[in-house]
Amino acid sequence: MKAVALTRYLPIDDPQSLQDVELARPVAYGSDLLVRVEAISVNPVDTKVRSPKAQAETQPKVLGYDAAGVVEAVGENVTLFQPGDEVYYAGDVTRSGTNAQFHLVDERVVGRKPATLDFAQAAALPLTTITAWELLFDRMPFAIDMEGNARALLIIAGAGGVGSIAIQLARHAGFTVIATASRAETIDWCRSMGAHHVIDHRQPLAAQLEALGFKQVDAVLNLADTDRYWDAIGEIIAPLGHVGLIVEPSGLLRIGDPYKAKSVGIHWEMMFARARFQTPDMIEQHRLLNRVASLVDAGELRSTLTEVVGPINAANLREVHRRLESGSTIGKLVLAGWN
Ligand SMILES: NC(=O)c1ccc[n+]([C@@H]2O[C@H](COP(=O)([O-])OP(=O)(O)OC[C@H]3O[C@@H](n4cnc5c(N)ncnc54)[C@H](OP(=O)(O)O)[C@@H]3O)[C@@H](O)[C@H]2O)c1
Repeated sequence: MKAVALTRYLPIDDPQSLQDVELARPVAYGSDLLVRVEAISVNPVDTKVRSPKAQAETQPKVLGYDAAGVVEAVGENVTLFQPGDEVYYAGDVTRSGTNAQFHLVDERVVGRKPATLDFAQAAALPLTTITAWELLFDRMPFAIDMEGNARALLIIAGAGGVGSIAIQLARHAGFTVIATASRAETIDWCRSMGAHHVIDHRQPLAAQLEALGFKQVDAVLNLADTDRYWDAIGEIIAPLGHVGLIVEPSGLLRIGDPYKAKSVGIHWEMMFARARFQTPDMIEQHRLLNRVASLVDAGELRSTLTEVVGPINAANLREVHRRLESGSTIGKLVLAGWN
């Protein structure tokens, strides 16, 4: 089968950083599905795993986590899917990745592909949607179908892959959504995803919120730089508020006052934790993805796809990695088909 792989960890401008290879097609055992991959999307985790270092691999290492495709074969313990089913998923960072024509994935982290989306549109969603959903509705004390008064939620990095779906989920849950974006095109994108207000993360946050009439916000999702906004969030978060984090800080975080004085909940999300640690509730990702597929098919959520860059090959993957490393992509970039 065709695949894109690395053996050395090189800067993305080096043509050897990701290469086209031929690998043996894997076989599904146990609770694994063998999926024929039709489309993939790329996330910052792909570029972080690929980042330059002295280490080398003896066997080609395949990256890639998001995929949409068709179940080709199933292991003997599989109960949720059968060959021919169309699926989408974000897989497991500890296993061989989706940048391959055929891919093994545990059925408990796989959902049925939304029927109203094609493979490319579906491949844009899983990793970022699991992240935003688990953060808001599994880690933080909110629900997709919240009752009661609208609460104000600030989403830092609204136009990124995670931000784009977080805006939609939060809007659906009844929040007043304030997203951050720093350029005309990302401001427009955040509004199109459903943000009520957009402020600029390059300018002081508190003054901009105050100008919109928000002295404080009930919750913050920091989807960009944990250290950089830490003091500002401490200032704007309401007493008994909640802060969600997804990015490793570069140093120590001071979690005392004002966070302690306000009794603020601090919540970490790591979307690969369930698969990596085989948690007893791992099947929740299957349920989550199916729930999201139903919301998409009902017209309540939409794909965050902004561009299909081309077919899945090393040259196109290097191009998408390079663009993601710039930190300025909008929504999700996808590769679809093989040639
Ligand atoms: N823990 C987890 O489970 C998990 C899961 C997914 C992602 N992540 C991490 O979360 C981060 C975001 O992921 P993503 O997929 O959303 O990234 P992304 O799609 O690459 O985000 C790009 C967007 O980020 C905005 N941005 C860039 N630098 C910023 C800054 N300093 N402050 C605020 N916004 C900034 C840009 O908006 P403007 O152009 O408007 O500035 C751009 O549109 C990455 O570090 C990723 O590795 C963690």
